[in-house]
Amino acid sequence: MKYLVVANWKMSPLSLKEAEILFTAVEKDIKKIPVDVVVCPPFIYLLQFLNPTGNLFLGAQNMHFEERGAYTGEISPLMLKSLNISYVILGHSERRYIFGETDETINKKIKQAIRSRIRPIFCVGEKYRSGLGEDNVYEKEIENQLVLGLKDVSNTRIADVILAYEPVWAIGSGTPASPDEVLKTSIFLRKTLAKLYGRPIASRIKILYGGSVTRKNAVDFVKEAKMDGLLVGGASLIAGEFVSLVKSIVESV
Ligand code: PGA
Repeated sequence: MKYLVVANWKMSPLSLKEAEILFTAVEKDIKKIPVDVVVCPPFIYLLQFLNPTGNLFLGAQNMHFEERGAYTGEISPLMLKSLNISYVILGHSERRYIFGETDETINKKIKQAIRSRIRPIFCVGEKYRSGLGEDNVYEKEIENQLVLGLKDVSNTRIADVILAYEPVWAIGSGTPASPDEVLKTSIFLRKTLAKLYGRPIASRIKILYGGSVTRKNAVDFVKEAKMDGLLVGGASLIAGEFVSLVKSIVESV
């Protein structure tokens, strides 16, 4: 199994020049590391980095669920496909809670991404930490996100989906979930997937962790929490930090 690390640049960097410097530096050093890396820059920079080779891939941070139509400011999956974009982040908590995306919209996007042969990186995660360890409130929350987000995604297509467990309270906060918490939640997520798709299929679905991942803690999530990879925000914006983060997870095994 090859690890997968996704770099979510969000709304950074603020100029094309900086984006080019960052991408070029990552591209140069990542080639030698046996980990698949998906860089998700803002849409406007995608054209600059088309068709990366080897273990480097390009992803979008969002897309619309319709292929065509009058949707001011939106990006069609067909546009992404025409640029050979291979992944798309969907259901990110910033899309859910700042831009009001619902489970229903996210489900439409996931199904459309699969139809368009763009692999969805589907984010789920509880909003508050209080539920953890005390009761099953947070489990119910992520179970709902998972079940509603994957509604009508068939057994034959679920393998295209990559799941990212991103507790909202951990994102950008400098306080990641502990490897124990991540392990426990990933077991719960796999159990839920097994109920939907059966054990053999569920065991093959990649689950990533995201939320304040850094070069220092990355290894704990793959080693102790047994994650299949990571979704990295802030730490993906400094080439040196990001490359050593990616390197650290293979050096550990
Ligand atoms: P962070 O962001 O690494 O800056 O916490 C992760 C994410 O939002 O995907």
